[in-house]
Amino acid sequence: MAERRDTPWWERGVIYQIYPRSFQDSNGDGIGDLAGVIARLDYVAQLGVDAIWLSPIFPSPMADFGYDVADYCGIEPLFGDLATFDRLISEIHARGLKLLLDFVPNHSSDQHPWFIESRSSRDNPKRDWYIWRDAGADGGPPNNWISDFGGSSWEWDEATGQYYLHAFLKEQPDLNWRNPELRAAMSDVLRFWLDRGVDGFRIDVIWHMIKHEAFPDNPLNPAWTPEVRERDKLIQLHSTDQPEAHTISVEMRRLADSYGDRVLVGEIFLPNDRHAKWYGTPEQPQVHLPFNFQLIENPWDAASLRQIIADYEGSLPAFGWPNWVIGSHDAPRIAARVGEAQARVAAMLLLTLRGTPTLYQGDELGIGEVTIPPERMRDPQHLREPERGIGRDRSRTPMPWNDAPFAGFSTAEPWLPLNDDWRARNVAAQSADEHSMLRFFQKLLALRRSSPALTIGSFTLKGADDEVLSYIRQAGDETLLIVLNLSSQARRFATPHGYGLGDTIASTLARSDAKTGTVAADEGVIFRLTGKH
Ligand code: GLC
Repeated sequence: MAERRDTPWWERGVIYQIYPRSFQDSNGDGIGDLAGVIARLDYVAQLGVDAIWLSPIFPSPMADFGYDVADYCGIEPLFGDLATFDRLISEIHARGLKLLLDFVPNHSSDQHPWFIESRSSRDNPKRDWYIWRDAGADGGPPNNWISDFGGSSWEWDEATGQYYLHAFLKEQPDLNWRNPELRAAMSDVLRFWLDRGVDGFRIDVIWHMIKHEAFPDNPLNPAWTPEVRERDKLIQLHSTDQPEAHTISVEMRRLADSYGDRVLVGEIFLPNDRHAKWYGTPEQPQVHLPFNFQLIENPWDAASLRQIIADYEGSLPAFGWPNWVIGSHDAPRIAARVGEAQARVAAMLLLTLRGTPTLYQGDELGIGEVTIPPERMRDPQHLREPERGIGRDRSRTPMPWNDAPFAGFSTAEPWLPLNDDWRARNVAAQSADEHSMLRFFQKLLALRRSSPALTIGSFTLKGADDEVLSYIRQAGDETLLIVLNLSSQARRFATPHGYGLGDTIASTLARSDAKTGTVAADEGVIFRLTGKH
């Protein structure tokens, strides 16, 4: 892939996801809030990221912790108010950072006034803002669709004698994006926040937004086994990724572009060919960054990674900018999945691949598996399908800031337990230790910022070793070789043909001996390459 020159901020920058319930509590209720985020902005700036994506902060009954929105243009009182939000955005901008909000357009809360009206009678003007259907021929749900959180996607409403659709919890009714009034109301929501100065949005489950007009049954998934989520019994052929959803994406992009330098990031889980369509075309662009979760979803070995990187790069439209994600509030912690040593390798991979990286709060400390006693589990997805042990709480535990009571996160017992090792694994301790994960992240982020090769350079995969992943990043006269040893044994690597091996710029280890053509067990290294002969 060739080097790019004309680059907007969101191509060069790094996005940092803040889960506001768990970042910093300022008022002693055990739940993080906006004033807490403000108090920690210097930390974010010093980390060396460019933009903050804030998970939902809107009024919400919290059935799905903010992804059930009861008012798209307000601030949840637990988190603060609009005045605090305005202060947050100006403090963010004062530090040269950007702010992306989490827009949740597929569904609202069942407590949203729109839904309360919609369910009040069949002829209410807002009835059609949600998706209502008569019962099927047998008196059951209108079709076989399964909610992402298990069970039917349809909930019976006794009072009006119809079912409504919910792709997630029954407390999250799906909005009807075929209705022009709803569409106009949602454009007003985007304008409301853009006018307040936000730099863009992460758009929740964007590929869910329109359903097949005739609501046919989804086909059975022949690959399903009982260990897998109930949702995956069916292929979501008719309930997601409909062609009409792309027209919404075009409209949202047009609106964002009318404000200048803003960015839209779409949450999308699809195979490459369909995923790439969410970029749109140069004439009709859609989201700038369709989130790419492949590092989370695939096995952690060099052969698999090489394959997914090659396939993904190969699937991008010529004008499409790549992006990579390694953790989120929905996924297991990377350090829990691959171990602490490989988590450093993962950090190096994330920050040296071509494309915008998204980093999730706490991963910069290497937080790993967290013990959550059953009585403290809160994730509604887990509580509905507990037998699968798929809880998302373990990646949502509060940020450990120091070794004071409750890790400096709060003055009260936090809503979720802290990571077990918070007394040692916290921001203060890691700031003081030059070999810590946090200092490693800071170093890599600074290196990335200063290196055109890493931010906008070309990308070429090298080597064919099953344990070592290597690639070249190049811009101008800067050529870098990245060698990542995915195994727990030392491995030899070859210097790419025609180059000389220059300085070691960074290693995941405190002391690296990599110049000899060998990378140590679990080591990742960035080398400078000297001129091609
Ligand atoms: C997205 C969010 C997740 C939420 C779901 C429903 O996947 O990331 O946390 O539960 O959408 O809104």
